This record gives sequence, structure tokens and C-alpha cells, in this order.
Amino acid sequence: MIGTKGTVVAVNGNMVSVRFDGIVSMNEVGYVKVADSKLKSEVIRIRGEVSQLQVFEITKGITVGDEVEFTGDMLSVEVGPGLLGQVYDGLQNPLPQLAQAAGYFLERGVYLDPLPGDISWQFTPVAKAGDKVERADTLGTVPEGSFTHRIMVPFNLYGTFTISWIKPAGSYKISDTIAELKDEKGNDFQVKLSFRWPVKRAVDCYQERLKPVDPMVTRVRLVDTFFPVARGGTYCIPGPFGAGKTVLQQITSRFADVDIVIVAACGERAGEVVETLKEFPELTDERTGRSLMERTIIICNTSSMPVAAREASVYTAVTLAEYYRQMGLHVLLLADSTSRWAQAMREMSGRLEEIPGEEAFPAYMESTIASFYERAGIVRLRDGSLGSVTIGGTVSPAGGNFEEPVTQATLKVVGAFHGLSRERSDARKFPAIHPLDSWSKYKGIIDGEKVAYAHGFMRRGSEVEQMMKVVGEEGTSIEDYVIYLKGDLIDAVYFQQNSFDAVDAAVKPERQKYVFAKLLVVLASQFTFADKNEARTWFNRLRQKFLDYNGSEWKSERFQGLEMEIEKAVSGQSKGLDKAAEKILA
Ligand SMILES: Nc1ncnc2c1ncn2[C@@H]1O[C@H](COP(=O)(O)OP(=O)(O)OP(=O)(O)O)[C@@H](O)[C@H]1O
Ligand SMILES: [Mg+2]
Repeated sequence: MIGTKGTVVAVNGNMVSVRFDGIVSMNEVGYVKVADSKLKSEVIRIRGEVSQLQVFEITKGITVGDEVEFTGDMLSVEVGPGLLGQVYDGLQNPLPQLAQAAGYFLERGVYLDPLPGDISWQFTPVAKAGDKVERADTLGTVPEGSFTHRIMVPFNLYGTFTISWIKPAGSYKISDTIAELKDEKGNDFQVKLSFRWPVKRAVDCYQERLKPVDPMVTRVRLVDTFFPVARGGTYCIPGPFGAGKTVLQQITSRFADVDIVIVAACGERAGEVVETLKEFPELTDERTGRSLMERTIIICNTSSMPVAAREASVYTAVTLAEYYRQMGLHVLLLADSTSRWAQAMREMSGRLEEIPGEEAFPAYMESTIASFYERAGIVRLRDGSLGSVTIGGTVSPAGGNFEEPVTQATLKVVGAFHGLSRERSDARKFPAIHPLDSWSKYKGIIDGEKVAYAHGFMRRGSEVEQMMKVVGEEGTSIEDYVIYLKGDLIDAVYFQQNSFDAVDAAVKPERQKYVFAKLLVVLASQFTFADKNEARTWFNRLRQKFLDYNGSEWKSERFQGLEMEIEKAVSGQSKGLDKAAEKILA
């Protein structure tokens, strides 16, 4: 079939206007022919017989009159075994291979197959000839790393099909046909190990969407205990420049209790991306003992790539996440930073001369962000198994001002908000999640009432601290001063976590619950001190013991020894429990 053809009538940055002859649809892929390469582009507006395309490459050299070929296909990704461990650009080009094919400086117009064609996959059929199947039903499986990769009926085959034949167990390449299906009208469809799916369409081959309730444990105390994220839920990490967004996502990608992690590094500094790429293959996944990279996919666009590629990378990432969800797996998608994506939207909108909204972002930015986060979710598949996609996105508001449009649009749709604070990161209190500004609508690993009680000390402690700045320590009562010290204690020994300490960097929920209970007793105890000096000295000593306790191996002799010391110190100083807390502690 010959696709529609067109000619370039105008070039504006990385947007070209193309007069076409025939039919063109929104989000269709077109190639702009320049010299001897073809540059991949996507239709973003159609007016009569002129369409606007965003070009995913540098547009240098494109001139009026250049030919454009429309493909009739939406911007899509190829899904199948071999995705795990890959590093792609936003258009799903495998970056290491791209660099090899094109030399050190990536050449434009070079597109490679996303999935390796030479690997033989060990296929085991689970369906047989004569079976009736629907889209996303499993025809067979292949092992991929430590996962059972389901070879499914392509998601775009709507209706009921009968399996005409299916290949026996054996080894097959990605392009081999492994089954043939017949629809109700008698048309035949061949199924291979891989197929394509348009990135802007959410994969919806599930029975039902469920409410995200089970926590997705990250092993960051502040998150799991205070501002939890649910499996299938959404959260955002806004934070000023250098406040620790990327480091927090890196920690999460290593330790989060999920099967697969997809990192979309869109438009951050190139150096960071390189760091991730160097680090990941060397890290081992403690669940499997294998390289962390085997359960990770990285999509990266550095800020030097054209803006359109940033948008593509976000959609590519979420589509791959949805694909693995269809296998009954739990997937975490981390997008860093969604602000760069929003800026790309703003840039394209400006070129389209659309009426700008707040801070020149397009009016549809809010709904675009919302529909991206809506692709998260925990779902029940047709075979009864559960799969989830959890999405966490960073936002980098200029000047750390959370009132700006991208942060505001994001926090309207997410279930948890981990606001990073400049003040805390400057004071090297990491993770710099602000314990008073942040929130979560999800249930965490510890009873909400207990958490609220502990959090109250942080809030009241900070009020006392503010007051002390005005009236001085002398003007503060000893009772208030102890509240301040208690708030300071939770901050130092529970909120903050030393990411360089082998033990403290990642804390399992079992240990979080255990230590939290110990801390709660301290908070609920009524202490009497002769004066503030005595109180401060006593709390300083306790804090140091707690920090050592946090750094000691779970249930080790040292851990138990320190625990006894803490308990002794507390019972020696306590005059009993706060009456209000007795019920909560019970
Ligand atoms: N949890 C942490 N533990 C120790 N140091 C940290 C932690 N988080 C951040 N840092 C320090 O802060 C620096 C900046 O962190 P990071 O690159 O994550 O910030 P960012 O918010 O992603 O910045 P940008 O806005 O530039 O993307 C790190 O290089 C590191 O030195
Ligand atoms: Mg960053």
C-alpha cells in the first residue's frame, strides 16, 4: 500500500508544515526526506490539507519543497521478549547499538530494531489449536531473565479468534510466526513473538481496574511510614534544582518492591543518565541475585535531544509498563523530569500559535498530564491475576515554587506528594522530603492513628522552634522545649536516612514497624528534666544511640544491645505514658 505523500511548506524549529494529498490522521508517523535520510515525525495538527508535524530529530537542512511520506501508522512501540535490560531513546532505538551503528555522535535518521532479532527464545505453548482467544490472552510463554514472559494475542486484535495452529515448544526468533488465528469472518492473522502498539493509547485489555490499596514498599522510611505510595497508584516528587529528586528515584528504583522498573529520563543532564547507565548493570537485585539491569528498562533523552523526543520517551515508557502489567507483573515507572516534558509541550504549542494558558503552557497541559498519570493502575486480568503500573514523576519547578502550573496540574491527579525542600537539602537532611508539606492519600505499612500521633510531634516541634526564634530559648517553657526535642528526634532518627550506609540506606517494612514502635514509646513518655540543658543533653545521647541502632544489622547482637540501652535510658527517665497516647499505643 502506498501511503499519503506531502511536501514541506514551512519549517519552524522542529515543527514542519506539510501540504498533503490524501488522508492523514492525528499522531500518524511521517518521514521527512532530507538529503539521503528520512527523519521521523508525528502529525500533531491537521487543518484542511496542511498538517503540522513535530520532527523527532534536528531539522537542520529541511527546506520548503522537501518530500514527506506518511506511514498510516501511529507512533508505536514494539513489544515482546527482549525489552528488559534495554536502554532506549524516546523512539525505542536501542542506544548502545545506535552508538555502534552511527559512531560516537549519534546520527539523525538512523532507526534500529528495538528488539534483538538474533536471539532464540524458548517458547512453550499454553494454548492449543481450536481454542478460542481474545486479545491479550496468553498463547505461550518464554523465559526472559527471571520472568515468565507471556506471548499474548496482540492487543489490537479485537473480537474472538480461534487458534488455527500453534507451534510446538521450541526455540524461535522474534520474527517467527508462532500461531495463526482465525476471526469470526474467516480472516487469518499471524502472531509472532512481538507486535506493535500505539504509545498514546492506553492498553486496556483487562477485566477491571481496582482501587490501589496495598503499599508499594520503597524502603524509604519517610515514604513507607508517613507518605506511602500504593501499588498501582501515582505520586510526584517536586523539588528545586539539586534537592535530590534524581537520587531519590534512583534509590526507589533499586529497592521498591516491584517486579520491573522503567526509568524515563527525559531531558535531564546527560551526565546523570550516563551515571545511571554505568551504575545499574553493576548493582545486584537482592531478590534474584542477578544484575538490577535485568529487570530494568531505561528510556533516556538528554536535554540536547529535540523536545519532541522527550514527549515520545514518556509515552514509550508508560506503554512498555502497561505491556508488562498484562503479564501479571508489578511495574514501577519513574519519570524524571516531567517538567521537561511540559516545557516541550509549551514549545510546540508556541510554534502552533495556540492561545497560551498560565505561564504560556497550553491550556490542555493539565488534561495531558492527567491522562498520563491515569495510565497507572492495578488491574485484574482476564485470567484473574493482578498486575500494576505505579507512576512516580519528578517535577522541577523554577525556583522551587510549587505554585507553578506543572506542579499544580500534577498534584491534582496524584495520590501522594513528596515535596522536596531546599532548606532540608541545604542542611543535608536526606531524603529532603518535607515532612510538613508532603501528603499521601494511601494507606501505609503502619496504622494511621500512630503515624498521625508521631507526625504531630514534628508539627508541634516545628511550631515551638519557630516561636523560639522569636522569644528565645529562655522564653520557652520546658514542656514546649521537650516537644521540640521530640520532634527533632523523629526527624533525625526516622525521617532522615543515610543513603551511604549499607544498613540504613534501605529499611524493610518489618524493621520500620519495629523501630517505629520503639520511637513511639519515647514520644509518648512523659519526661521531667531539671532544666533545658539536662533535657538537651539527654536527647542528644538518645539520638546518637538511635542512629547507631539504625546503622546496626537487623537483630544483630549490636542491634539488641543498643535497643536495651535505649529502653533503659527511656524507662530511667520516664514518669509514665501520656494518657492520650495509651489508647494509640495499645
Ligand atoms: N538521599 C541522599 N543522600 C545523600 N545525598 C543526597 C541524597 N539526595 C541528594 N543528595 C545530594 O544532592 C545532590 C543533588 O541531588 P539530585 O541530583 O538528585 O538533585 P535533583 O533534584 O535531581 O537536581 P536537578 O534539579 O538538577 O535534577 C546529589 O548529587 C547528592 O550529593
Ligand atoms: Mg535530577
